[in-house]
Amino acid sequence: MRGLSGKSVLVTGGGSGIGRAVALLLAESGSRVTVADRTAEAAEAVAREIRDAGQVAEAVTADVSSEDDVRAMVEAAGRLGPLTGAVNAAGVPQVGKLLHEVDLAEWDRCHGVNLRGLFLCNKYEVAAMLAAGGGSIVNIASTAAMVGFPNGAEYCASKAGVMGLVRGGAIDYATKGIRINAVLPGGTLTPMLKGAMALDRGLEPALAAVHPMNRFGQPEEIAAAARFLISDEASFVTGASYAVDGGHTCI
Ligand SMILES: NC(=O)c1ccc[n+]([C@@H]2O[C@H](COP(=O)([O-])OP(=O)(O)OC[C@H]3O[C@@H](n4cnc5c(N)ncnc54)[C@H](O)[C@@H]3O)[C@@H](O)[C@H]2O)c1
Repeated sequence: MRGLSGKSVLVTGGGSGIGRAVALLLAESGSRVTVADRTAEAAEAVAREIRDAGQVAEAVTADVSSEDDVRAMVEAAGRLGPLTGAVNAAGVPQVGKLLHEVDLAEWDRCHGVNLRGLFLCNKYEVAAMLAAGGGSIVNIASTAAMVGFPNGAEYCASKAGVMGLVRGGAIDYATKGIRINAVLPGGTLTPMLKGAMALDRGLEPALAAVHPMNRFGQPEEIAAAARFLISDEASFVTGASYAVDGGHTCI
């Protein structure tokens, strides 16, 4: 795919699930990948897996809800070359309560990572890309940005916020060589979804039923869309929210 070889790309939440699949796929495509996660061991393990395959990766520990961490993370990513790609996959799930039962601390925790964290990542990544002469950012949102989930109002609100950030940001940099897009995964078999299904036995059949393909996605299927949007093949795509959801948002 055009424009990936030798490219310095940062992947947040790269230690697990969708972020891990993105990091592996971009490295396989010749990119130099900074794997960032708040869990140091997870980021290290994925970076090691990439290096063991003969590709280039470094690990960084960062909590995306901390401005200091995000600033340092983006600076660290510059050590693999001027940053021209970023996939922001770090995120946390809903607490699984009715709206009126969600307390403010739970709301703040969700939005602190899923929306404030995404804002901080985009802010510092854009600044680095302006200095590098351009780039592409992919934000992993969710179909929850477009359709409601039961017991997930705070999560839906955080993901809808990401779509707004992507649209506004895309316009700001459309003539400056920086593209900003979102991928909206449907239910994807990662530790996050498996954990949620283990806690709520009714979730698996209910969630499977809303996907017309009648199955969940694999992290690699989400990573494929992120790779396209990062690559130069997507040179006319900005501000888009690209659903990869087995038809979930068609219903
Ligand atoms: N799995 C799904 O069904 C699904 C569906 C739609 C959207 N998503 C979104 O995809 C993204 C990735 O989710 P996943 O399913 O791969 O989950 P996951 O739990 O497998 O991976 C998420 C990773 O993000 C990291 N992380 C969490 N908070 C962080 C923080 N504050 N700073 C840095 N890293 C942090 C975790 O340590 C973990 O390694 C999330 O934004 C999630 O909301 C997932």
